[in-house]
Amino acid sequence: MSESNARVDVKPNGPLMITGIGEIKNSKGEVLAHPDPAFLCRCGLSKTKPFCDGSHKSGFVDDKN
Ligand code: FES
Repeated sequence: MSESNARVDVKPNGPLMITGIGEIKNSKGEVLAHPDPAFLCRCGLSKTKPFCDGSHKSGFVDDKN
C-alpha cells in the first residue's frame, strides 16, 4: 500500500482545504486545473464550484466544526 501526502482540512465556516492531491475532476470527468492547496466549496454558494469563491463569508455557519 502506498502512502499519500494528501490532506483535507475543514476550515471553520468555510471551504475544504485540499493539499497534496493530484487531479480534481468535475462531474463530466474533466480534469480541472487547481492550485495546491485547493479550496473546495462546502457551503453551496460558490459561483465557481467545486471551488470556493469566498461567498461563504456572506453568512455560512457550520456549528458542528
Ligand atoms: S465554502 Fe467558500 S464559497 Fe462555499
